[in-house]
Amino acid sequence: MSRVSLRPAVLEAVGQLQVAGVHSPHTDAEFLAAHVLGVERSRLALAPMLTAEQLAEFRKLVDRRAERVPLQHLTGVAAMGEIDLAVGPGVFVPRPETELLFAWALAHLEAAGHEHPPIVVDLCTGSGALALAIAHARPDAEVYAVEIDPAAREWARRNADRQAAEGDTPIHLHAGDVTDPNVLAPLNNRVDVLVANPPYIPEDATLDPEVADHDPHRALFGGPDGLSVITPMIGTITRLLRTDGVAAVEHDDTHGPQVAGLFAATGRFTAIVEHPDLAGKPRFVAARRTAD
Ligand SMILES: C[S@@+](CC[C@H](N)C(=O)[O-])C[C@H]1O[C@@H](n2cnc3c(N)ncnc32)[C@H](O)[C@@H]1O
Repeated sequence: MSRVSLRPAVLEAVGQLQVAGVHSPHTDAEFLAAHVLGVERSRLALAPMLTAEQLAEFRKLVDRRAERVPLQHLTGVAAMGEIDLAVGPGVFVPRPETELLFAWALAHLEAAGHEHPPIVVDLCTGSGALALAIAHARPDAEVYAVEIDPAAREWARRNADRQAAEGDTPIHLHAGDVTDPNVLAPLNNRVDVLVANPPYIPEDATLDPEVADHDPHRALFGGPDGLSVITPMIGTITRLLRTDGVAAVEHDDTHGPQVAGLFAATGRFTAIVEHPDLAGKPRFVAARRTAD
């Protein structure tokens, strides 16, 4: 079987992706090559040749990436913590900045110790990313996830089933609206750690084609000011957390003070802290529930 060298094919792809305006052409070309070869990206150097079929497949994927189809829709996976999630049309692709929320949750679960199974809630779970990554890292946790969108829930169900089949503690996946005053009512005043990455982009924002054309509208936009889900969701968070339970809410980089203000306005939170992301932009607010 004739084989061609991978390196020139990758360099050609980088050029094509650059011209198409893809933000990380080199990384994406390598991820697509690794996907076609069935190896980790870090091990591409050990697989320096492509068959003619693999080259054709690689070029097809690069063409689609150049049309600004998200990389994760082409490879079919996105990472969170130590797990891979199946993603594609109909569900939000988990972002690297949300890893901060995952790390924050793990740190709080660690600080809480291992004596009692902690109760964890992930509001607006999408693919199940945060809920499943937490369940994987903390098998003792009882993890609940809420998602309103049936298509997103199907992806979450598929991911949850696979993680459970691989031995993780199954999560409880709920169809529900996080702004509903009764959502997860049996957990009122019982939740130890709550995370939420809700839709938070203001409606008039200009977005890259990968986002605007491929992430579901309902996953992105939070009304004219971006706060239409977060504002009522703070009531849900207040209701669910036990005394000294903690919550973290991801937000648009323009909303740090507003989200902190929404927690403060309830009069039920202390230790309200604005956290930046890796680029130094305001990214999530964390807070601790006080006694009623
Ligand atoms: C930004 S995505 C985050 C998904 C996931 N948590 C992650 O980080 O990858 C927001 C998710 O919230 C869901 N959503 C939007 N409004 C909701 C609501 N009122 N109640 C429950 N889920 C909602 C969307 O369908 C979408 O899956």
